[in-house]
Amino acid sequence: MSEGLTYIAYIFSALLFILALAGLSKQETAKLGCYSGVAGMAIALLATFTKADGAGAVCIIIVAMLIGAVVGLFAARKVQMTQMPELIACLHSFVGLCAVLVGFNTFLELDGVFDVAAGITNAVHMEETGELGIHLGEIFIGVFIGAVTFTGSIIAYGKLNGTYKLRIFKSAPLVLPANHWINLGAIIVCFLLMIWFLNGGVEASAAPLFIMTVIALAFGVNLVVAIGGADMPVVISMLNSYSGWAAAASGFMLDNDLLIVTGALVGSSGAILSYIMCKAMNRSFISVIAGGFGNAPAAKEDKDYGEYHEMKVADVAELLKNSSSVIIAPGYGMAVAQAQNAVATLVERLQARGIEVRFAIHPVAGRLPGHMNVLLAEAKVPYDIVLEMDEINDDFENTDTVLVIGANDTVNPAAAEDPSSPIAGMPVLTVWKAHNVVVFKRSMNPGYAGVQNPLFFKDNTSMCFGDAKKTVEEIDALL
Ligand code: TAP
Repeated sequence: MSEGLTYIAYIFSALLFILALAGLSKQETAKLGCYSGVAGMAIALLATFTKADGAGAVCIIIVAMLIGAVVGLFAARKVQMTQMPELIACLHSFVGLCAVLVGFNTFLELDGVFDVAAGITNAVHMEETGELGIHLGEIFIGVFIGAVTFTGSIIAYGKLNGTYKLRIFKSAPLVLPANHWINLGAIIVCFLLMIWFLNGGVEASAAPLFIMTVIALAFGVNLVVAIGGADMPVVISMLNSYSGWAAAASGFMLDNDLLIVTGALVGSSGAILSYIMCKAMNRSFISVIAGGFGNAPAAKEDKDYGEYHEMKVADVAELLKNSSSVIIAPGYGMAVAQAQNAVATLVERLQARGIEVRFAIHPVAGRLPGHMNVLLAEAKVPYDIVLEMDEINDDFENTDTVLVIGANDTVNPAAAEDPSSPIAGMPVLTVWKAHNVVVFKRSMNPGYAGVQNPLFFKDNTSMCFGDAKKTVEEIDALL
């Protein structure tokens, strides 16, 4: 393919990626968004393929694509919906590692021969054309962002993996003494190392690049371990953004315009998502990315919350029969139980009885942005009864019954009522204002943030213990 055709293919791909982002921003157009993304990536791959230099390079690309396809297919078939955030964190770590490897490879290529007869290396040639300083800067910054993304994503994977008790890393923040000074010191040292690296010119030494990589790897770990459980949504979107910038940096190093555009799209959309997440959690962006800023002291868990009331499924069915309005607040437990289809069937049955049913969706319910919306869409719940927190929070006080299905942190009144709580200030669904609240979960274990929930002990609240899917199906059968 000629250079011109490759450019046209890249422009088409970039447009399709922009269409993909636009499509994915609304449930109704999400499928179209996915197709646009796939088409864009297919064109990009084909164009890249035709740029390969010789049969050897084509073979390497084919082998790499086959390995990637096998791993991708295996992961896509095996990974549960609830494991999506871990998978995303894992993929971000690959992008980070890739940027580091591309950076080191680009550095090593500087010693390659540009002109054998004249004895000129690539570095000398770039020095003559005035590109060397910029190229070294791209390498240094690309490796830095890549290394931070790599280890940060691995720690995020550990924090997201498993359930409350089995998680690889605890969700609570691990903040070193003088943590912010350590982070600031790391950034200053990396900056000084960059000056050393750039000043090397054609003789640029690998030492500053190598030392910076080690510091950046440690920096990535420290940045994410310091972030508390309930702030993890921001970390995921932030690492998403970092991985985009790492890809863009690789694009600069490889002189690939499409990679630069795609990386910038991912980087900026991740940054916008992080901002939206921060607003939803009532956190300042800087405080979250600096890690551990403004973490409230941990609540004392020996506090006496009183007694909780238990309700059997037959009584829940009876309560629902006598209600004229019901709001369902789903959370991560609904995803674990795969209860969305059973919930959709229950909703139809309640509606058939003339009961008004709506869903209240917290922006960080579940483990990834839009998690609940995806599950409810999969179960074909009509969009018009699925309302965002801001749209429905004022309606709880006029509602007869709220069913909290596998949600915990997102309905925790401590966020609004207890300034010493680690989740203080986070907006929550004010379900406790309804006349009756029934919580479907398996035990009295806390939610993701590891904080006890005073909702469970309120007079108008009852616990209905068991797997959410089984509980909902039993209630449905009784109705
Ligand atoms: P969580 O606070 O995580 O609580 C989920 C509850 O579901 C648990 O208390 C658990 O209690 C229950 N559960 C688990 N499996 C169940 C099953 N099979 N049947 C019934 N119940 C089950 O949920 P949430 O309210 O959705 O809050 C989300 C949390 O995750 C927030 O802290 C948020 O910050 C964090 N987070 C969110 C994201 C995004 S982007 N959404 C990303 C990372 C972290 P039992 O074990 O007692 O059953």
